[in-house]
Parts: sequence; C-alpha cells; structure tokens
Amino acid sequence: MNGGTPPVTQPGTQSGTQQVPQSAPQSEPRPGNDRPLLVVTGGMGRVAGVLRPRLRPRYRLRLVDRVGGPVTQDEELVVTDLASKEAARSAMVGADALLHLAGEPSPTAQWERLYATNIVLTERVLAAAADVPRIVFGSSVHAAGGDSRPERYPIDPAWEPHPCCAYGMSKVVGEALARMHADTHGSSVVSLRLGLTGFPLTDPGHARLWLSDDDAGRLVTAALTAEPGYGVHFGVSANAIPHWDTTSSARDLGYLPQDDPSDVLAEAAEVSRMH
Ligand SMILES: NC(=O)c1ccc[n+]([C@@H]2O[C@H](COP(=O)([O-])OP(=O)(O)OC[C@H]3O[C@@H](n4cnc5c(N)ncnc54)[C@H](O)[C@@H]3O)[C@@H](O)[C@H]2O)c1
Repeated sequence: MNGGTPPVTQPGTQSGTQQVPQSAPQSEPRPGNDRPLLVVTGGMGRVAGVLRPRLRPRYRLRLVDRVGGPVTQDEELVVTDLASKEAARSAMVGADALLHLAGEPSPTAQWERLYATNIVLTERVLAAAADVPRIVFGSSVHAAGGDSRPERYPIDPAWEPHPCCAYGMSKVVGEALARMHADTHGSSVVSLRLGLTGFPLTDPGHARLWLSDDDAGRLVTAALTAEPGYGVHFGVSANAIPHWDTTSSARDLGYLPQDDPSDVLAEAAEVSRMH
C-alpha cells in the first residue's frame, strides 16, 4: 500500500487539483476511517453512479474524474485528467483497491478517441497503480461481441476474445494490459465484461445484455472481495437464455445475479397497460 495524501477537490470543481480545507483536522479519525480506500476512476460517470451507494458501506471512496459533481460527505473527489502520469500517480496514493472505470463507453465511438481514452489511459492508470494490490477493470461484453450469435451461446469468457467493433477491441487491449499488470506486479486483477449498466430496461432487445443496478453492486463487490487472483468474467443479470456464460463469475467471484430482466420487462408492460 502507498502512503501520503493526494490533492482533494470540492464537488463541482471543473478542472485541476485544488487543495480544499477539510471539515475536520486531518489528525482526527472520522468514523469508519479504517475501511479500505477504493479509488474509482471515472467516479462521476454512469456506472460509478450506480455503484457508489452500494460500495460506500464497505469502502472509503476516492472518486477521480476530469469533471466534478456532487459527492457525499463520506466521499473524496479528485478532479483531474488521468492522462497526466503525475495526476494518475497522485490519485493512487494510499489506495487499497482500484476500480478503473474512466473511459469512453460508446460502442460507436471513433478509433482515435477509443485509442486515447480506453487504451492509453488504461495503460497510464495501471502504471500508476503498481502498488495497489487489488484492481477491477470495467471491460465490456463487446470484447466478445463477435461471438454474439445463437449458435455460440453461451459465450465462454475463456474463449479467445472476439470483439465486434473498435470499442470491443479497445476493451480487449485493456484486458491484456490488466493481465500483463497482474503478471508484472503480482496484484489481484479482475476484468469484468459488463453488460448494459446504469440504464433502465425498457427494450426487450436489451434483456440479454442488461445488468441491473443491484446486480452491478453485487458483481463489483464480489470482484473486489473474492480470493485474490486473475480473471475475466461476464457481468450480466440473470438471463432466461444464457447468452453470456457467468459460470466463472459465480465460481471464482461468488457473483449470483438476483434480478431477472423478464420480470422487469413484464412489470413495465403491466404498468403501461394500467395507464
Ligand atoms: N454503461 C455501460 O452500459 C457500460 C457497459 C460496459 C462497460 N462499460 C465501461 O464502464 C466504464 C464506465 O462507463 P460509464 O457508462 O460510466 O461511462 P461515463 O462516460 O458515464 O463515465 C466515464 C467517466 O470517465 C471520465 N473520464 C474519461 N476520461 C477521463 C480522463 N482522461 N481522466 C479522468 N476521467 C476521465 C469521464 O469524465 C466520465 O465521467 C467505461 O470504461 C465503459 O466502457 C460501461
């Protein structure tokens, strides 16, 4: 683990890393200060927004993002561009675990942006996290999207990666960087191939991809607390037809999805029928 104190910013700060006064002197421990420190890159993003309330009971959260926003008293916000090596190193100081979510989430994004944000940035964040013992990387089902056809179901995460698009390819490279990091530094590294996360399920066509908010919390908590090791796993809710094989997520992480997209869609249909 590292030591020291990184720059901290107030909610809403738009850029830079400004020192702000703390509400209590640094020497006075706050309640729950003994919880492990989890650094969440992309901490102001959609997926982080789903996870933050579900991770707060177990972790002190340091949210690192290039944009600011509201945070709770219990959270620390660092507004900085992680493309800077210095900023990335500073953001990791004292971290017990890293959840790397900063990235470009659009499957239709252009190659230049994916290269800069999902590949170069991931390399930079991992390099800065050399001393962080546990890392979870936000990958995507798109890393295996090329296998997404009925004759291939259920898709095994142990198969050779088969991206469907430049976005999926950028996640495959991120997974490879994560694997290399695990080999080099001996850290526990888990890549989670997330399904559609942080969106309400309204389109039946998305059911096979969907990860509910509560299942996302269960999955990431499981990945952060499982026996240390290396792995790549799918993260989706309980699908009636298993498109993505979550056997390894259950076996290695203990992730058991509890939300069924068919129930959610049936409820939504019932609500719209009554209105
Ligand atoms: N939302 C989904 O359905 C989904 C599914 C699969 C995988 N993922 C992955 O999860 C991660 C988070 O996705 P999201 O939907 O929350 O995206 P998002 O765009 O809402 O959040 C990403 C955050 O990263 C931050 N960021 C980007 N570049 C940065 C930089 N250089 N320095 C600091 N911060 C930076 C952005 O400001 C943003 O707040 C992404 O890597 C995405 O590929 C998301």
